[in-house]
Amino acid sequence: MRHYETQYDAIGRRFEESKTTAAFSAADTHTLLTALDAIGGVKGLDALDLACGYGHNTRLLARAGAARTVGVDISAEMIGLAREHDPHGTEDITYVVADAADLPPLGAFDLATAVYLFNYAPDRAALHAMFRCVRAALRPTGRLFAVVPNPGAFPHVDWSPYGVRILDRIPEGDAPLLKAEFLTEPPVPFEFREWPHAEFAEAAVEAGFASVSWQPARTPPPDAVRDEAFWAAYRRSPVSSLMVCTA
Ligand SMILES: C[S@@+](CC[C@H](N)C(=O)[O-])C[C@H]1O[C@@H](n2cnc3c(N)ncnc32)[C@H](O)[C@@H]1O
Repeated sequence: MRHYETQYDAIGRRFEESKTTAAFSAADTHTLLTALDAIGGVKGLDALDLACGYGHNTRLLARAGAARTVGVDISAEMIGLAREHDPHGTEDITYVVADAADLPPLGAFDLATAVYLFNYAPDRAALHAMFRCVRAALRPTGRLFAVVPNPGAFPHVDWSPYGVRILDRIPEGDAPLLKAEFLTEPPVPFEFREWPHAEFAEAAVEAGFASVSWQPARTPPPDAVRDEAFWAAYRRSPVSSLMVCTA
């Protein structure tokens, strides 16, 4: 596999397959949208979607009425896929290929989202740089909403009913390397770092965020395929949590 910071160039379209089918992704989207509703929505806000991938959340922000929407991803392949979703530019989204640990000047934002960005920080220096870059991009009243994986699952918890499986945990560097696969058909391998939530909070405070709070994963309404028992089990060992930082 290529170095895991650019692994999404190779994953490409397979990630969209995972995102649109995996239960944990449905929960992540529900968690994020519920939290954004609770602050009054995004209408009129300038929004920056970091690690935007193929633009799933970026488009949700734009369609919810964000004034200016920018999506950033380190993978040129993923940004290409994001642009394919809007070939005529009618969504009014600007996509930029950039490392979130070394952002170019993009202007000032009221809101930043980062759904699975920070777990791809290869080391502590990069993790801190990412938080500093987000903080610098936010206005004084700005907020960051970050979906981050919950640590400590492997080898105790099996997330495979929810669309992802951890295969190995290798202690090395500043945070253990997790080898995982998205459970598409066939599965897609990927790797990320298992940062403790306290490290995220420390990096946010060091970057100048005034407050850090946490929200548990929320789950979508049950349906015929994923009933209440399914989602209740998910809420007992969810893949992620929502981190909210105020500038
Ligand atoms: C699991 S995907 C999530 C994509 C999107 N947030 C979503 O929820 O659909 C993780 C994304 O993070 C991107 N990424 C990883 N490291 C990054 C970095 N240093 N800067 C910007 N993007 C990064 C990858 O290229 C990939 O598209």
